[in-house]
Amino acid sequence: MSRVGIIGAGYVGLTTAACLAHLGHSVVCGDVDADRVARLSRGDIPILEEGLLELVTEGLRSGRLQFVVGAEGASRRRDFVFLCVPTPQSDNGAADMSYVEAAAAQIAPVLDPGTVVVNKSTMPVGSTRLVQRVLEEAGAGSREVRVASNPEFLREGTAVRDFLNPDRVVIGCDDTATAVRVSELYRTLGAAMLVTDPASAEMVKYASNAFLAVKIGFINAVANLCESVGADVREVALGMGYDKRIGFEFLRPGPGYGGSCFPKDTAALNHLAESVEFPFPILEGTIAGNRAQYERMVAKVKAAVGGELAGRTIAVWGLTFKANTDDLRESPALYIAGRLLAEGARVRAYDPAASTEKALASVPGLEIVVDGYSVCDGADLVVLLTEWDEFRWYDLDKVASLLTVKSIVDCRNLLDPAAVRRKGFQYTGVGR
Ligand SMILES: NC(=O)c1ccc[n+]([C@@H]2O[C@H](COP(=O)([O-])OP(=O)(O)OC[C@H]3O[C@@H](n4cnc5c(N)ncnc54)[C@H](O)[C@@H]3O)[C@@H](O)[C@H]2O)c1
Repeated sequence: MSRVGIIGAGYVGLTTAACLAHLGHSVVCGDVDADRVARLSRGDIPILEEGLLELVTEGLRSGRLQFVVGAEGASRRRDFVFLCVPTPQSDNGAADMSYVEAAAAQIAPVLDPGTVVVNKSTMPVGSTRLVQRVLEEAGAGSREVRVASNPEFLREGTAVRDFLNPDRVVIGCDDTATAVRVSELYRTLGAAMLVTDPASAEMVKYASNAFLAVKIGFINAVANLCESVGADVREVALGMGYDKRIGFEFLRPGPGYGGSCFPKDTAALNHLAESVEFPFPILEGTIAGNRAQYERMVAKVKAAVGGELAGRTIAVWGLTFKANTDDLRESPALYIAGRLLAEGARVRAYDPAASTEKALASVPGLEIVVDGYSVCDGADLVVLLTEWDEFRWYDLDKVASLLTVKSIVDCRNLLDPAAVRRKGFQYTGVGR
């Protein structure tokens, strides 16, 4: 079993740390956030992720998982050090590599000879070499430290399950022996293993996320077209999905994609294409279409209240970028709520998991309400923006008694339109 260091205890780093400890490795996870480290050391999980608490508890009890403040403490006497720090979007669309560079410079002086630094964060083509250079310049040069790319494909909400049952593991390294060493960490998972060059591994991650974004953009466009021609996109998606070449996944229309990955990764790939003067109209169209989809949801709400948002009170169900996560980063719901406020509406929102503090920091003026019925009290209508399962089961008679206009705008197609209409509501979905 290997000694592993993890730099960054966020969605990816914490999941990687807990899962590798579960697989029997000895893991030290370092984060700059001292509060987070203190909480984690007590077995208190700062993010909502199914199964993570159990694995962290197991790791702490067995002694195979430790948390420390800072990157250095997680990097001494390690066989592998995984970089799991943020790579946010910078102003020109490119991935901001400053966190990665800072982390690499911090760990360089303390790495043992032979340690493999693994780029787990989503990093653009060329990053394996960039990290190697930063390590060498910061003092690891004479100690034969190697760098490999090993992008992560987990989905928030099912991160543990995805990590332990990956569709594939991708490892990119110029040195085959190093790639094989990294692959050994995952051997017991029995997943398909792609060992390739660094640039191809880095490209796999961006191409995969961009492809999924295009798929969402495509079904959203089909949904919008269905609205004009009287087709039901749910039926259309079902008929398409049975085709194994297409599949059912990512064929659910909605308010547009969001989250911490798709928006920034599509922007970064687009930036890469521009930097080599390669026209990539499908990707450009997807990015522009996604923003337009957010606006289309605002227009639906506006139409549902009779064309004028000023002076209206809108109840919002759901703020996170998708269900089963507490992550608000780049959430379409926040954008749409902000636009409704900007048009003069009063906006009251309820979300089962989102942090009130983070939601208010993103959308000043938003009112946060503690349950899904109270949020409707005195509101004109309700707009469903995140597909939390609990919204399916609400008592619609009760909701109707609280709203002044009996109208639901269901931006996730979560509810059954016939059942909603039977209760006397006006129902607006996406593409049906
Ligand atoms: N969130 C996802 O679903 C997902 C999936 C696949 C890949 N990724 C990629 O993984 C990377 C991390 O994403 P995330 O969502 O886990 O981010 P996150 O913001 O949740 O976590 C990053 C953590 O790194 C810590 N950190 C920053 N600099 C540090 C340093 N120098 N030393 C120690 N800790 C440091 C931060 O305090 C934070 O806790 C990104 O590149 C992202 O694109 C994310």
